[in-house]
Amino acid sequence: MPEIDGPRQVILVTCRHRGKDNIITLAWHMPTSFDPRLYAISIGKTRFSHDMIRDSGNFCVNFMPAEQKKGMEHCGSVSGRNADKFEHSGFGKEECGKIDCPRIKQAIGFLECEVVDSVETGDHTVFIGKVVHSKTKGSGKRLYHITGNRYATSSD
Ligand SMILES: Cc1cc2nc3c(=O)[nH]c(=O)nc-3n(C[C@H](O)[C@H](O)[C@H](O)COP(=O)(O)O)c2cc1C
Repeated sequence: MPEIDGPRQVILVTCRHRGKDNIITLAWHMPTSFDPRLYAISIGKTRFSHDMIRDSGNFCVNFMPAEQKKGMEHCGSVSGRNADKFEHSGFGKEECGKIDCPRIKQAIGFLECEVVDSVETGDHTVFIGKVVHSKTKGSGKRLYHITGNRYATSSD
C-alpha cells in the first residue's frame, strides 16, 4: 500500500488449531459493528494463520504496547509453519476465557472472537469475528506501521 494509507495500528492476533498455537502481526483490522459487536481482520491467503483461523473458527486480537515492537516485528516476519513464535518472541501465553485459543500476557487489551463470516478480497480474506469476551488491562503508547520498516508511535 502507498505510504499515504498509513500509519495503521499494529496488533497481534493469536490462534490455535490442532494443538498448535500461533501469533501473526497485523496492520489491516477494524471494528465493524456495535450490535452485535464485530471486529474484522484481513489475512493474506498464504499465511499459516489464515488456514488456522479458517479451520478453527476462532481468533484473539491482542492490543500491544509500543515497547513490544521487537516481538511484533518478529511475529510479522517469521511463519508459524516451522517455528514456535510464543517461544521465540518471548511473549507470555495465557488461555482465553471464552474460546479455545491462547492470548498474549503483555497485551494491554484483548478481544476474543468467533468467526461469523469471511469475505475473500483478492489475495486476502477478511475474517469477521463476533467479540465474545474482551478486556482493557492497561494503557500506553501504541505502535503504528507506516510502510516497509517505518513506524510511528502514539503520544500515550
Ligand atoms: C507491521 C506488520 C504488519 C502486517 N500486517 C499484516 C496484515 O494486516 N495482514 C497479513 O496478512 N499480514 C500482515 N503482515 C505479515 C505477517 O505478519 C507475516 O507474513 C507473518 O510472518 C505471517 O505468519 P504466519 O505464516 O505464522 O501466519 C504484517 C507484518 C508486519 C511486520
